[in-house]
Amino acid sequence: MRKLGYQLWLSMFTASLPAITLAAAAETSLQNLTGQDAPAGAVWLDTFDLSPVETGWGSVGAGKSAEGKPMSVGKQSFAHGLGTHADSVAGVDLKKTATRFVAAVGVDDETDKRGSVVFQVWVDKVKKADSGLLKGGDAPKLLSVDLTGADMLTLVVTDGGDGNASDHADWAGAAVFATGSSVKVVPGNFGLPNIMPEIASGDPAKTSINGPRIVGTTPGKPFIFLVPATGAGLTKFSAKKLPPGLKMDSVTGIITGAVEQPGTYEVTLAVKGKSGSASRKLVIEAGDHKLARTPPMGWNSWNCWAGAIDDAKVRAAADAMVKCGLAAHGYQYINIDDCWEKGRDASGEIVSNEKFPDMQGLADYVHSKGLRLGIYSSPGPQTCASFTGSYQHEAQDAKTYAKWGIDYLKYDWCSYGSVAGNNPGLDGLKKPYHIMDKALDNCGRDIVYSLCQYGMGNVWEWGAEVGGNCWRTTGDITDNWGSLSGIGFGQNGHEKFAGPGHWNDPDMLIVGRVGWGPNLHPTKLKYVEQVTHITLWSLLSAPLLIGCDMSNMDKFTIDLLTNDEVLDVNQDPLGKPAGRVADRNGIQVWRRPLQDGTTAVGMFNTGPEAADGTVQWVDIGVHGKQPVRDLWVQQELGGFDGQYTVTIPAHGAVLLKIGRPSGQ
Ligand code: GLA
Repeated sequence: MRKLGYQLWLSMFTASLPAITLAAAAETSLQNLTGQDAPAGAVWLDTFDLSPVETGWGSVGAGKSAEGKPMSVGKQSFAHGLGTHADSVAGVDLKKTATRFVAAVGVDDETDKRGSVVFQVWVDKVKKADSGLLKGGDAPKLLSVDLTGADMLTLVVTDGGDGNASDHADWAGAAVFATGSSVKVVPGNFGLPNIMPEIASGDPAKTSINGPRIVGTTPGKPFIFLVPATGAGLTKFSAKKLPPGLKMDSVTGIITGAVEQPGTYEVTLAVKGKSGSASRKLVIEAGDHKLARTPPMGWNSWNCWAGAIDDAKVRAAADAMVKCGLAAHGYQYINIDDCWEKGRDASGEIVSNEKFPDMQGLADYVHSKGLRLGIYSSPGPQTCASFTGSYQHEAQDAKTYAKWGIDYLKYDWCSYGSVAGNNPGLDGLKKPYHIMDKALDNCGRDIVYSLCQYGMGNVWEWGAEVGGNCWRTTGDITDNWGSLSGIGFGQNGHEKFAGPGHWNDPDMLIVGRVGWGPNLHPTKLKYVEQVTHITLWSLLSAPLLIGCDMSNMDKFTIDLLTNDEVLDVNQDPLGKPAGRVADRNGIQVWRRPLQDGTTAVGMFNTGPEAADGTVQWVDIGVHGKQPVRDLWVQQELGGFDGQYTVTIPAHGAVLLKIGRPSGQ
């Protein structure tokens, strides 16, 4: 009653006395933001169309948490608010009609005290409020910001510097005091223009051999490798010093067979074409557990088709990978994600559903192009999309995969929670992955083992121990800046756990046409954000699994995915991923040592405006005058002493190679 009376009292003045409303708004208490009724003169933000809000995971909740539950922060319930997930950004177009923004911010109680975030309120590109670091379980914090005369309000949630796991961030009771009805929620990109940066064409005229410089195999197990080569009219491939057991098809450039003896073989590959010839060394390492010497490069069906995947789309992907030239730059895996499974036959053998009538035939088709086929399962009874998982059929499934000719397995925790219980402990987390590792070892075929359990139990610390060739470090990525930047920049610190044969996997690529279903859309990332994506994934030695429809890519997407100098950073045989070495005024500097003695450096502008970024030689441990090369445009920039400075667009990146190769 008292509250209603107060609001009535307030609303009587709202119409006639805006100055008093303003004062009242400034004094809004947290308590005023918890109920059904908005403070007088204010409108709840969650009553607007929230589709433009970018959220780092799931979808934005209107009056609900990121998981769609009733909103609660520090045990305080809220009837209204925006339930987001770091990194998140939302814009509110004010048209100078608003006077104040209020919200009670914090991590939603559904995370069970996990997660840590920072809330920022920007007004016309100036930061006006910052919550400081708020952790799961903390009490909500009231933010109240003057909007008088402002055009744009931007609400940002960052991951607090430790990755975005469990960062369920509530703008609880978020309300705008506005005099007009023209306020609306808009993309929170600070009005970033979508300017296409200049990058080198991925289709150079000269003949060259590209892709990995080292590959691994187990002696006695089938091996297939297409020599990635570009140039006009390629006519003849050859290979000197192939290990016994392998042969090269001189027309297609496909190497097949099975290496007979363990060893390290230095093969000289050569190719002739209309625009000249090229040769290059390829090391073939044969031994136990030698797969994925460099991060896997390929395609996965999930980010584009999800449940709409079928045999025809997989074949089309293989065709497109060759036709668009992606295979000629080193992409080789065609990975089927979830939704191919039907169930088990009387003998317990896994059977594919009607969309995949002939798995073995499909594998043969993919192999005929020199490419490799991947598949997906779960250690639980069911996969994430509720299809049959491998629980208690692990050895049998691995043998079936080998029989079909599968080369890659993504093994996704999902319903295994129902087996392991709520607190499985480290041993419980490792257990199902050990079981499948053993099954794969004994199945008779080399199958790259990709763990997917979203980073639980710091999987980067033990993924290699359970036989993982790569392991997902995060939840699912989606095609917006919040998701990309939260996941990507949250990888810092994981680099020391990765190396040849065992890689951190921050999830699949989100460039090109994506959609997670039958209807695709162009990625929502701006062009420069896409450059940031591929730059960061290359520095991180992340698997490069394309997530779009490869049969429908524009030139920018193809160029982005086929820049050999950038891909060489991803595939560098030293296998030392980058870590962050500086973070100054929103410009992050990441450093990756390369095998030739030079250093790859990424500079990222995470701020809302173009800004100068500087890499100082002390950041990367070099001295004196150093040559600097821009890898995206493939040009020398000259010699620089002490540092190099360049203007970087908001959310954009540059990728540099600094220094002289050893021995030069
Ligand atoms: C999980 C994974 C995704 C995808 C789906 C399939 O969400 O993280 O990458 O494999 O399952 O159901």
